[in-house]
Amino acid sequence: MEFSIKNQAPEQLKTDCLVLGIYENGVLPAAAKAVDKAGKQAISQAIKRGDFSGKSGSTLLLANVAGVTAARLLLVGLGKQDELNERTYRSAVTAALKAVLDTGSSDVTLTLTELSVKQYDAAWHLRQAASLAGDALYRFDKLKSKKEAAPKLKKIAFTSPDSSAAAALKEGSAIAAGQALMKDLANLPANYCTPTYLAKQAQVLGKEAGLKVDILEKADMKKLGMGSLLSVAQGSVEPPKFIVFKYNGGAKSEKPIVLVGKGITFDTGGISLKPGADMDEMKYDMSGAASVFGTLKAAAQMKLPLNIIGIIAATENMPSGSAVKPGDVVTSMSGQTIEILNTDAEGRLILCDALTYAERFDPEVVVDIATLTGACVVALGNVASGLLANDDALAAELLAAGQQSHDRAWQLPLWDDYQELLKSPFADMANIGGRWGGTITAACFLARFTKKFKWAHLDIAGTSYRGNATKGSTGRPVPLLTQFLLNRAQAKKPAKAVKTAPVAPVTKKAATPRPAARSRKA
Ligand code: BES
Ligand code: MN
Ligand code: ZN
Repeated sequence: MEFSIKNQAPEQLKTDCLVLGIYENGVLPAAAKAVDKAGKQAISQAIKRGDFSGKSGSTLLLANVAGVTAARLLLVGLGKQDELNERTYRSAVTAALKAVLDTGSSDVTLTLTELSVKQYDAAWHLRQAASLAGDALYRFDKLKSKKEAAPKLKKIAFTSPDSSAAAALKEGSAIAAGQALMKDLANLPANYCTPTYLAKQAQVLGKEAGLKVDILEKADMKKLGMGSLLSVAQGSVEPPKFIVFKYNGGAKSEKPIVLVGKGITFDTGGISLKPGADMDEMKYDMSGAASVFGTLKAAAQMKLPLNIIGIIAATENMPSGSAVKPGDVVTSMSGQTIEILNTDAEGRLILCDALTYAERFDPEVVVDIATLTGACVVALGNVASGLLANDDALAAELLAAGQQSHDRAWQLPLWDDYQELLKSPFADMANIGGRWGGTITAACFLARFTKKFKWAHLDIAGTSYRGNATKGSTGRPVPLLTQFLLNRAQAKKPAKAVKTAPVAPVTKKAATPRPAARSRKA
């Protein structure tokens, strides 16, 4: 999809469809007011007739309005003016795009980006709109023999009051592209999306985005002593793959940010077999890995001045004659031994070795992303991802990035008290902690492998895909992770600006999510 910025007066815009936000009770934002005036009150008359309420998410199409150059006007409800917030803004953008797709328009111009939601700047409005447009236009029909007709819509333009709008739009479309890549990988079923397929796609992304890619094979994992990861892989005929991406956008001396993704291409539970209902959804158990792909794609597209390593442990979790059994004790790469009490708690078994592997990069921070526990879905539903961390500043950064991108996370405690639950009489630890606090005990397990660096864990079991009728990958948490990286890149800039800029804006910057003091480049 082609995105662009348009800056003419809305009534003079040449476009197939001009989208105008309207509040309840007939209140018109500036763009709608200007068009209403030029169009001989076509909008206010429609409202008077009772054709349009302005209720959040409602739409009305007006064609051939005299006095305006746009072929169609699409009115979209914003709800009450004093209640405009992230949610109502986002649903207006989505509702507008859905309605436009039902018309014959091949290009559309949205003026919603001129609105002012809460404290957010113009760049936020654009980033949100572009990534929502990506969502609205996403289709997955690769595996249908008869493809749906391609949408007529080819170009999406936004109006914006901001002069640096072009940069924000680039960020937004990079996020949309990253999310689309994540969705493509995650939606692809497990008979296509095997560890070998992921490794191949890693090479493809590497070529396209200029990333260095290393693939470790089973023999390499054996040499490294990744006994925990290999115990999960041993039940499958599909060979495991360990993928390492390197993106070098920063100075050589800068420590990298390391992203680690859970890449279980299908989770049957293994010998601790899962029940049959909805088991198909376990093709999404590589969503963490897919989010690493998507985030690296976005970061490379934005040419972020950071060093980033992406690590993906990819394998199936299958029951078979060669599968690992409950009670088996395995030795992880760290040397710590693990009693596997439930083979369905396999995510932590592959992540622990990937986290130990991360040590070799001397990371600035490590963030792992995993569809790790059903307990997280029980606790937070599909709105917030679970966040646990051994470093409060890093947790705060991720929470803030989640707020900013509206791809939110919620922190749970990682207190040592919970570690008790992982005690084993036969090994250094058990791989499960019993029935209660499952998201926390899973993170406690990982915490035993992350002592050497600042680390955070995102449990995306509830947020990375939708089940049931509207089944599909959501592309989350690519927006959160990309915003986190954007903020880190941004925080490097003020160091230069401090000398020239007046004091006030600098203090304002410091109030933005990440603790600005971190910038290492003076
Ligand atoms: N992949 C699942 C977690 C999951 C559940 C993701 C539901 C998405 C939706 C994970 O490997 C798993 O099976 N976890 C177990 C852990 C338990 C055995 C301690 C769970 O949550 O039931
Ligand atoms: Mn499992
Ligand atoms: Zn799993």
